[in-house]
Amino acid sequence: MSAPRKLFIKSFGCQMNVYDSERMSEALAAAGYVAAEGADDADMILLNTCHIREKATEKIYSELGRFRPLKDARPDLKIGVTGCVAQAEGAEIFARQPMVDLVVGPQSYHRLPELERKIQTGERALDTDFPREDKFDHLPKRSQAARGPTAFLTVQEGCDKFCAFCVVPYTRGAEFSRPAGRVMAEARELVARGVREITLLGQNVNAYHGHEGGLAGLIRELAGIDELARIRFTTSHPSDMSDSLIAAFGEVAKLMPYLHLPVQSGSDTVLKAMNRRHTAEQYKRVVERIRAARPDILISGDFIVGFPGETEAHFEDTLALVEEVEYGQAYSFKYSPRAGTPAAELKGVDDAVKDERLQRLQAILNRQQRTAQESMVGRTVNVLFERPGRLTGQVVGKSEYLHAVHVDDGQAGVGEIRSVQINASGSNSLSGEVLQG
Ligand code: 5AD
Ligand code: SF4
Repeated sequence: MSAPRKLFIKSFGCQMNVYDSERMSEALAAAGYVAAEGADDADMILLNTCHIREKATEKIYSELGRFRPLKDARPDLKIGVTGCVAQAEGAEIFARQPMVDLVVGPQSYHRLPELERKIQTGERALDTDFPREDKFDHLPKRSQAARGPTAFLTVQEGCDKFCAFCVVPYTRGAEFSRPAGRVMAEARELVARGVREITLLGQNVNAYHGHEGGLAGLIRELAGIDELARIRFTTSHPSDMSDSLIAAFGEVAKLMPYLHLPVQSGSDTVLKAMNRRHTAEQYKRVVERIRAARPDILISGDFIVGFPGETEAHFEDTLALVEEVEYGQAYSFKYSPRAGTPAAELKGVDDAVKDERLQRLQAILNRQQRTAQESMVGRTVNVLFERPGRLTGQVVGKSEYLHAVHVDDGQAGVGEIRSVQINASGSNSLSGEVLQG
């Protein structure tokens, strides 16, 4: 028997790509592939890509350029592009990088084994269909191998919201919810492999309707799996935060007190131009209700500065909203025009103005993040330990608020949840002592 072929997948972009990469490697394992240690010893390299901003897309082309010497040295090496750039650019990728063998979009990667057979004959393969069949029905069952204590689980995919700046409705397609029974089965499989925390994923996860009780119903059912200790979900749209989901933060102990709730802008004019379907006031009221249900919750957000038409006064409305909401975590970006989206047709804001606004916004957000992290010093948090720390002699995990927490080795093992007294806050993480008992 010949040696198994080796696969190297590099994931870019969001957590759903991390989940998809896992499923792709499982699909190709069924076709005889094992994990390579890196690109250098791989027989096939897949870049699972992100198209959200221009920078993300350009990164893929420069990454591909770096693989050229490998391909020159080993012409049998197969190189594929999967994910959102594959969906958006399709055959254009072959034109820009002729050494690419395979281009597969996010909805057709269950066909990887047959596409792989095709490229082994020396042909190229392109599949950017939105197939009628559901890829989840055609992917192999999850692997049985032991794994780390945290996992992502896609429950919803695609988006029907059509924010004017966003490529997701075009790259991931229409909104689709996986039936709750399938999600429960996959969650049980993950738990049987040692998973203690599951993050439910969807581009618009709180619009999930695969359970009669919506996302809240699914969360309540998942909470019934004994060995599952923690549940999270991301990313949510403010106008889909139902009463029952908000109530779940106060009622379901396993639902962690952290919510990523992007607002993008604090200006009603800009929100309207973005087609966000909510005002700044409505967003703030939602946050208020969530905090009433779970007072210690940490809110995280996404922001875009320099959307077409954004004036200094509009931008100041964003700063005011940020001051009012107080974020524990945040991601902020300069607006990047994306071909095919409605906003790409509009006249843009000067890049220097975008830079300056981004700096001002990030100064406030960074201060808020530091304050939230430092407020943990002296408190006791629960930490799920995930892996050895980068510094030897330490083990690291996440608190319920998603802060990284380090303790000295020997105090806790990977997969354990322990109470930790926080005694210091560093640049990106906390450290403390495990409380005995
Ligand atoms: N330009 C800049 N940022 C964008 N995002 C989405 N599309 C764009 C774009 N065209 C940001 C939003 C979103 C996050 C995932 O990426 O803030 O919530
Ligand atoms: Fe990037 Fe959006 Fe695609 Fe995720 S869904 S990979 S964030 S473009």
